[in-house]
Amino acid sequence: MRIDFDPETVGPTPFYKLLTSVIVPRPIAWVSTVGQDGAANLAPHSFFTVAAVAPPVVQFTSVGRKDSLRNVEDTGEFVVNLAPEGLFEQVNATATDFPHGVSEFEAVGVEQEASLRVKPPRVAGSPVALECVVHSTMGLGNSTVVFGRVVHAAIDDAVMVAGHAEITRLRPLSRLGKNEWGTVGEVLDLARIRYADWEGRGPEKV
Ligand SMILES: Cc1cc2nc3c(=O)[nH]c(=O)nc-3n(C[C@H](O)[C@H](O)[C@H](O)COP(=O)(O)O)c2cc1C
Repeated sequence: MRIDFDPETVGPTPFYKLLTSVIVPRPIAWVSTVGQDGAANLAPHSFFTVAAVAPPVVQFTSVGRKDSLRNVEDTGEFVVNLAPEGLFEQVNATATDFPHGVSEFEAVGVEQEASLRVKPPRVAGSPVALECVVHSTMGLGNSTVVFGRVVHAAIDDAVMVAGHAEITRLRPLSRLGKNEWGTVGEVLDLARIRYADWEGRGPEKV
């Protein structure tokens, strides 16, 4: 038996809570931007994923109009920093609704470092920084999806093993429902099956 939910009758906020409790875990883009006044901004966004491969594009969504979105529209650049488990409290604190012009880097005490290709700084303590130039934005009701072309990726060499960013070293946080957060659990490794191998894939799947 299943319980049925109709977004029209449930209403936007409860349905949003339902969606964010079942679309889990979500990776967190810790998005740094700068405003026209030059003040740096930092905020977590869990409506985040890869949008395209060639060109390499990532996307995050601003629900409502927030400082990150305003800065992205004003200056056309942002950096996606991986939100590492070791900076849990700081990631959460940067979601505080500080007034525009207050830098979360300074208010929360997050160390920053210069980016290579864009103005917004990176989070020095994050192992991954994806420097992005805005590709486009798309308004969807009360939300705005921001697409950014990745123009540079800066990865801490300490997380790289044989040219691969190792998940046990990255230790990314993820967002779950309510105020819940996830950390990396058991990691499974299984190769995809090519159709040419499908018939011989083994008796357990017949
Ligand atoms: C883990 C986490 C994930 C979040 N994801 C989003 C998101 O995807 N979109 C959004 O608009 N707000 C999200 N928020 C809330 C924003 O981070 C919060 O509103 C923040 O104050 C926005 O900062 P800004 O005004 O400096 O851009 C999230 C908060 C947390 C703690």
